[in-house]
Amino acid sequence: MGIRRDFLSNGKVNRFDGSKLPTKAETLKDVDDIKIHAEVGKSVNSGSFHGETIYANIVTRLRTAGCVFAEDEARLLISAARTPADLAVMVERREAGLPLEHVIGWAEFCGLRIEVDPGVFVPRRRTEFLVRQAATLARPGAVVVDLCCGSGAVGTALAAAIERIELYAADIDLAAVRCARRNITAAGGHVYEGDLYEPLPSSLQGHVDLLIANAPYVPTKAIGLLPSEARNHEARVALDGGADGLDVQRRVAAEAPLWLVPGGHLLVETSERQASKTVEIFARNGLITQLSSYDELDATVVIGTKPAL
Ligand SMILES: C[S@@+](CC[C@H](N)C(=O)[O-])C[C@H]1O[C@@H](n2cnc3c(N)ncnc32)[C@H](O)[C@@H]1O
Repeated sequence: MGIRRDFLSNGKVNRFDGSKLPTKAETLKDVDDIKIHAEVGKSVNSGSFHGETIYANIVTRLRTAGCVFAEDEARLLISAARTPADLAVMVERREAGLPLEHVIGWAEFCGLRIEVDPGVFVPRRRTEFLVRQAATLARPGAVVVDLCCGSGAVGTALAAAIERIELYAADIDLAAVRCARRNITAAGGHVYEGDLYEPLPSSLQGHVDLLIANAPYVPTKAIGLLPSEARNHEARVALDGGADGLDVQRRVAAEAPLWLVPGGHLLVETSERQASKTVEIFARNGLITQLSSYDELDATVVIGTKPAL
């Protein structure tokens, strides 16, 4: 089991508030602050009253469970826990293989703290490239739709990056919608539940400046090859893109021209391997297509522009 490198950057996580991951000394103070004067979980020596012992014990347990960045994770868990009981439960969940973001309840994305509920897709660092590409195309006041919004990370980040956007988001999964409502509503947006465009207000047709969709794009047969954190703890509907992984993208691209303003853009994340097919799908639907990638994040984005009148 290993936390994604994108979340912890070289062990110095940039927390949502921009601060660094707590140092070991700060962590030990946190342990004292939450007044751990009892055993934390099954394997802490109940005779130990010292933060250092508790921290070391959590590190050992996480490492034994296969967490690659055990020290960093221990610090995050300790700083996220409000009580010793909380901490004990969190450590047990993480040992059992729950993604760290589901355990602590949030993920860092584009420098923001995005709430992520159990079962909901954890926003990936590579998707920050999608946000960056979208942000370069948007103007203040743009009408933006985040389709397949999951936690709402993409829309929330765009609302933070572009002034006064009018933001709409939708997802088919109720757990994702509930989660997105907290993130996106706080950013002034609206969240709808349903299949792709179906729940959106029809008054948006022909008026959307930016349509962003990080739709599922894993081919069905490749789901079994995903890390267990994704396979076992993220909804299947968030991952499975059908036989070639592009089923949802096909549907998104087919209806995009109806919703975009002339000159508006559709942006989707895809993989390097699937990119040429995604480009083909966009072109087939009359979009002027451009491919953009960023090796450092292993990120590939296809941008389609509806021709201006
Ligand atoms: C790969 S996740 C991306 C989530 C989010 N955009 C992000 O980047 O973190 C794909 C999301 O698409 C949603 N989804 C899948 N099929 C859908 C459909 N037909 N209509 C709406 N949402 C769908 C899933 O529920 C999931 O939340």
